Amino acid sequence: MPRKVILDIDPGIDDAVALVMALFDPRLEVLAVTATGGNVPAEQATANLQALVGLLDPPRLPRLGLAPADTALPEKPFNMHGADGLGGINLPRAQLHGGHVSEKVIWETLRAHPREITIVALGPLTNLSRVLTRDPSIVELIGEVVIAGGTVQGAGNVTPVVDFNFYCDPRAARHVVREPVTKTLVPLETTGQVIFGFDLLDQLPDDSSRAGDILRRMLPHAFRAHRQLLGSEGISMHDVVALVAVTNPELFERTTVAADVETGGELTAGMLVVDRRTVRQWRPNLDLLVNCDVPAVKDCILRGLAVAGAGT
Ligand code: BDR
Ligand code: CA
Repeated sequence: MPRKVILDIDPGIDDAVALVMALFDPRLEVLAVTATGGNVPAEQATANLQALVGLLDPPRLPRLGLAPADTALPEKPFNMHGADGLGGINLPRAQLHGGHVSEKVIWETLRAHPREITIVALGPLTNLSRVLTRDPSIVELIGEVVIAGGTVQGAGNVTPVVDFNFYCDPRAARHVVREPVTKTLVPLETTGQVIFGFDLLDQLPDDSSRAGDILRRMLPHAFRAHRQLLGSEGISMHDVVALVAVTNPELFERTTVAADVETGGELTAGMLVVDRRTVRQWRPNLDLLVNCDVPAVKDCILRGLAVAGAGT
């Protein structure tokens, strides 16, 4: 039985790669894909999601959710994803059926499949927080949440101690982290262990497939951005590793912790705070994936992309 998932994304190159993989993975039944602002503003996030799904034309079309237009994003110190969020490939606009805002799509999908769905959150946690605010009882209908976000050792990718997703909406991150639902957090230290060199470009599906065409146009920008902005010759694709944590959890080392998110600090808003006191005072509330089998995760990613290429 494939695992039922909702993908919540802010596309974003690594979100887009994760989407490509998920839509063609026979182990997943992608019931809905919902957009949120983050890597790009809300309107662009929705446009990217619609264009990607329209172009990929997956075997089963998920419901799509529009990014909420009324959320303000904080200033980004730099942009890893290009002006359009997808490395400047400027996909043609595609208006797909269904025009509901993401929180409504998430709420309806959870109600239709109580306790069966894993929410895979690859962007700021705005949508999930909104659903839980609108209907707090919906938490009982969520099977599990897997989140790409946070940093445990305090090595952020936006501010010194904060990852991009928690940076964009610290209050939403706190809200979700505090909810009594089964949660797995895939922090930056773990997603950042998986680094691809230039040879990745030779291992993508060829551009006669729709997935291959998108990946081959999008990923060179990731290499340029990593070199110019981070001084790195290799790229990390955080959201893609988080997706592998859903399909192949056995490749990750897991530890249960008690954690919360700072919302107020001038230097620390969005910081994941883990209770490491000798005698822990907080109750354990989430699983952290602290390590992964890097070669095996890379292998999963390459195979997932090949499957997507073969399916398009
Ligand atoms: C997150 O930053 C974003 O740019 C990526 O899409 C990923 O979700 C990691 O901090
Ligand atoms: Ca993302």
